[in-house]
Order: sequence, then structure tokens, then C-alpha cells
Amino acid sequence: MSSITLIGTGNMARTIGTLAVAGGNTVEVMGRDQAKAEDLAKALGGGTTTGKWAAVPAGDIVITALLYDGVVPVVAEYGDALAGKVIVDISNPFNATFDGLAHSEETSVAQEVAKVAPAGASVVKAFNTIFRNVLEKGRPDVFFAGDNAQAKAGVAAFIESLGLRPLDVGGLKMAHWLEGAGLVTMGLAGNGVGHFDFALGVDEFTA
Ligand SMILES: NC(=O)c1ccc[n+]([C@@H]2O[C@H](COP(=O)([O-])OP(=O)(O)OC[C@H]3O[C@@H](n4cnc5c(N)ncnc54)[C@H](OP(=O)(O)O)[C@@H]3O)[C@@H](O)[C@H]2O)c1
Repeated sequence: MSSITLIGTGNMARTIGTLAVAGGNTVEVMGRDQAKAEDLAKALGGGTTTGKWAAVPAGDIVITALLYDGVVPVVAEYGDALAGKVIVDISNPFNATFDGLAHSEETSVAQEVAKVAPAGASVVKAFNTIFRNVLEKGRPDVFFAGDNAQAKAGVAAFIESLGLRPLDVGGLKMAHWLEGAGLVTMGLAGNGVGHFDFALGVDEFTA
């Protein structure tokens, strides 16, 4: 089982935290609003603790469950407190019309996080292609990307503990395309599928 810290106290922190506790993981919550962190920890139960904002997280895997424009500044603010940690960026940097990314270059929030993360930290992009409501009731494939094989193995084990299927899409530069896949899900929700109760997944046809 894994030890994780959720930075953020919103919807995704609650959903991933709930699954993490049910999966037998050790969970810590950190929020810029300490009262919200304590409320969420209480709601999650299972021995969930809270940590002080910007202190060294207790978890080996640190999930930044923050709005996309907060992720890089918060990782920078934590600084050396994240040394040696596996930082999991789940964000979707959508533009205002949900048909493009907020950054135009071939980068991603995860790649920008890697630039400000301290030495020895590894960054993995994961979970961004799945709507929260599907995480709560389904068993979707969880695509992830990163450059460090050991960090990815740890994140994959954590995803499996949630009862979900981890699928490695490659190195951290693939995070840009995972963010694009997040956009595809928005396009499908608004057009071809017409609702949010679905997830992108992989069907194999090997026979
Ligand atoms: N919801 C989904 O279906 C879904 C699916 C996949 C990925 N995601 C991604 O998951 C991330 C979180 O989404 P969410 O639905 O959980 O959002 P949310 O409910 O609005 O929660 C956002 C959290 O981020 C915190 N926050 C925002 N800006 C911050 C900053 N500059 N510094 C510190 N804390 C900050 C908020 O703190 P306060 O409460 O103090 O404001 C709150 O705890 C987003 O990047 C989103 O793109 C969401």
C-alpha cells in the first residue's frame, strides 16, 4: 500500500482520497485553508491526517489536487519540502472555451512542475482524463506519463489499489498529449457522447 498526501481540499481531493482510504492507503491532506483540510480528513476517515501547508508531506506520493494555475506556484512554494517525493499532477489546463489548452507551446503543467520541483523529486501526470463522477462509480483506465520508472511503478501500484487500471503512455513529454486527451473528453461530453458519465479507455483486439 502507498502513503499519499493530497495537496488541495476540493472535489478531486475528496474523490481520490475516498478511494485511497478504501484501498488501504495511508492518507494525509494539506490545504491552504487548514480548516478545510481538517474537515476533509475527518470526512475521509481511516486515520487520515492533516499536515501544515508547505511543510514536508508525510506521503511518498504527493497529489496536487489544485486548479491548474495553482499547481506550479504551489510546487515552487513547497520547494525543498518536496525533495525525493513523487509529485502527481492531475490538472487540466483548459482554455475558457474548453477547446484548447491554456498554454500554446508544446508543454504541460506537469512538465512545468518538473522545472520548479526540487532535486530528487519525480513528476507523473495521471488521472486528468477521467471525470470525477466516473472515478466515483466506475473502473476507468487511468493513463499516466512520467520519466522516472520507479516513480511510475509506485503510482501504478497506487492506482491499482484504487481498483483502477493504470496505463503508462510514456515519458513526461506525453503529459502534453494527456492534457489534449482531457480536452477530447470535454469535446465528447459536449458533442458525440452528450454527457459526462464516460471515460476514454483502451480495448485490445489481440485474438
Ligand atoms: N473535477 C473533475 O472531474 C476533474 C477531473 C480530472 C482532473 N481534474 C483536475 O483536478 C484539479 C482539481 O479539480 P477539482 O475539481 O478538485 O477543483 P476544486 O473542487 O475547485 O478544488 C480546487 C482546490 O484547489 C485549491 N486551490 C486552487 N488554487 C489554489 C492556489 N493558487 N493555491 C492553493 N490552493 C489552490 C482550492 O483551495 P480553496 O478551497 O482554498 O480555494 C481547492 O482546494 C484541477 O486541476 C482539475 O483540472 C478535475
